[in-house]
Amino acid sequence: MESYPHLPVTLSVNGSRYPLLIEPRRTLLDALRYDLEMTGTKKVCDVGDCGACTVIVDGRTMYSCLLLAVDCDDREITTVEGLARGNELDPVQEVFI
Ligand code: FES
Repeated sequence: MESYPHLPVTLSVNGSRYPLLIEPRRTLLDALRYDLEMTGTKKVCDVGDCGACTVIVDGRTMYSCLLLAVDCDDREITTVEGLARGNELDPVQEVFI
């Protein structure tokens, strides 16, 4: 398997900044789940059909399986984990439960 150079990226997720070295082809979904171990964002179809991987990027909902992590450098990302306010769950989190 061919190895690609890793690029420095800072992902801003749920109000925290995470500097990472990432392959240019890595999706935001894989970076969230495997590099940052934030597994609330789900990987189901991985091709933009189901919406299980939806996150909010700069105020817009997007499918993280269709975004490259390197294109999210310094953009504000909110995952399902970031929707709660203190100990109070967001209605979206309540629905999932
Ligand atoms: Fe289904 Fe992204 S995993 S749309």
